[in-house]
Amino acid sequence: MLAAAPSAQADPLQDFAQMSSQAQGSWDKAVRDAEIAAYNALPGEARAYVPDPRPKAPAMDTAQKKHKSARPACPNCVALTFDDGPAASTTQLLDILDRHDVNASFFVLAPNASAHPELLRRMEAAGHTIGNHTASHKELNKMDKASVDREIAAGNAAINAAVGHGSRWVRPPYGATNATVAQSTREAGAAQVLWNVDTLDWKTKSPQQTCQTAVNEAQAGGIVLMHDIHPTTVAAVDCVIDGLLAKGLTPVSLDEMILNPQPGRTYTQR
Ligand code: NI
Repeated sequence: MLAAAPSAQADPLQDFAQMSSQAQGSWDKAVRDAEIAAYNALPGEARAYVPDPRPKAPAMDTAQKKHKSARPACPNCVALTFDDGPAASTTQLLDILDRHDVNASFFVLAPNASAHPELLRRMEAAGHTIGNHTASHKELNKMDKASVDREIAAGNAAINAAVGHGSRWVRPPYGATNATVAQSTREAGAAQVLWNVDTLDWKTKSPQQTCQTAVNEAQAGGIVLMHDIHPTTVAAVDCVIDGLLAKGLTPVSLDEMILNPQPGRTYTQR
């Protein structure tokens, strides 16, 4: 005669073992939570005298450590910056930067950003820095605080609509700034970025002259001003990148060159 084999579920001893292990688990968790709550309730100085019951942050894995220590100190970096776009010519510029595997910075105007959100998304995806060049491109140093705030907020809103976050970089049009602009950018959590190499690309409309000025005047830590709305500027960029590299300089974005920009501070170089 065959006896029915007892199933695992029907084994009262095993059931009991499982139940008590679950009970032990939730009891342990309750104790741990109570310890953490008690620890959190202590004043800061008292915490030094008791063990910290909070779960430890997982240790950094090797890849993360490597990435962190491999962060470039960037001693020979130069920031290439392009203002007033995006425009039709920006697409060609993005292609050129892709080909060289170089990142740059784009100070966009709100109406152009709203007209070409796909170009901002492409900049973002490629790792370029997107900066705020205001809404109306007026001299902020001639405006009252509320108007400056509005210009900066409108620029940020257009960037945010395209890529899902605002910018920590503002370039006041014409480099026109003052204490009010500094305060407004500080409140917006953004640094001001001017430049120390002015290519005058908008004036000469000459790729040769734009390249020559950028390469001759650029030094480590410098910030080069150009405008991606001019096809003549875009036509200079291959030459600018090659010329900087030949000089031992590395073209980068602002995010790569200035890792922790201070809100309100004005940068004309690193
Ligand atoms: Ni401009």
